[in-house]
Parts: sequence; structure tokens; C-alpha cells
Amino acid sequence: MIPFAVYKNIHLIGMMMVFLALGGLLLHRINGGTQDHAWRKPVAITHGVGIFLILLSGFGMLARLGIFWGWPGWVTGKVLIWVILGGLIAVILRKPTLAKPLWWITIALGGLAAYLAGTKPF
Ligand code: HEM
Repeated sequence: MIPFAVYKNIHLIGMMMVFLALGGLLLHRINGGTQDHAWRKPVAITHGVGIFLILLSGFGMLARLGIFWGWPGWVTGKVLIWVILGGLIAVILRKPTLAKPLWWITIALGGLAAYLAGTKPF
């Protein structure tokens, strides 16, 4: 049985991977970089593995908390944020003009996800 603390650490590693990949790609696009760049594949892999780890560990923690179906609102909110963070990589590649606002929006999404987990407001 995997302990809660291990899931939490995996959750945090996944988040770091996703935000590192998104941040790197955002800066690349803000600086006028093209879709094809030397680190395209490693960035995509970092983002993809990170997104997978967040999901895996998130549901692992939910199981440890005894939450299965009939999610509370904070879980639904986190899953929505997860979906948005998963789709952002494609948006950044296709719409470079959105890169600057997305820089701040990504931070806000991360903050919101942490707030939802920490306070479980609904
Ligand atoms: C499938 C989506 C997700 C699920 C099911 C999920 C679930 C959870 C659960 C069950 C916890 C533990 C709450 C507790 O300690 O009582 C947690 C903690 C946390 N989650 Fe998520 N989460 C998801 C996505 C995300 C995303 C996308 C982020 C950030 C962008 C995030 C950030 C955090 C943070 C910062 C914590 C607190 C960790 C700590 O207390 O050290 N989560 N999450």
C-alpha cells in the first residue's frame, strides 16, 4: 500500500514538471521562438509525464482519503484545472500572442489548485 506522503510527493514532482515545461515554453514563445525548437520533445515529455503523475497521485490520495465517486466540489475544480494545464501546451504552441497573459494565468491556476486542496472550501 503506497503511503499518502509518497503520493503527495509524486503530486508535487508532477506539478514541478508541468510548470517547468509550461514556463520554459512560454518564455520561448514570448521571445519569438518558433514551434520547432531543439527541446520540443523533452519539453513535451516533461509536461506529459508531469500531467500523468499529478492525475495518478491525485487519485491515489483521494483513495487514501476515502473519496471515490460523488466528488466534492474542490475535487471537480482540481480536475478542471488539470484539464486546462494539460491543454495549455497546445495553446502556447498555436497561439503565441497569448503567451504573456498565460504566464500569469498559469500561476493563478496553480495557486487556485493549491487553495482548493488546502482549504477544501466546497
Ligand atoms: C486530477 C486532478 C487532481 C486531483 C484528483 C488532486 C487531488 C489532490 C488531493 C486528494 C490532495 C490532498 C489533499 C489533502 O492533503 O487533504 C491534493 C493536494 C494538492 N494538490 Fe492536487 N489534485 C489534482 C490536481 C492538482 C493540480 C493540477 C495541482 C496544481 C497545479 C494540484 C496541486 C496540489 C497541491 C499544491 C496540493 C497540496 C500538497 C500539500 O499539502 O503538500 N493538484 N491534490
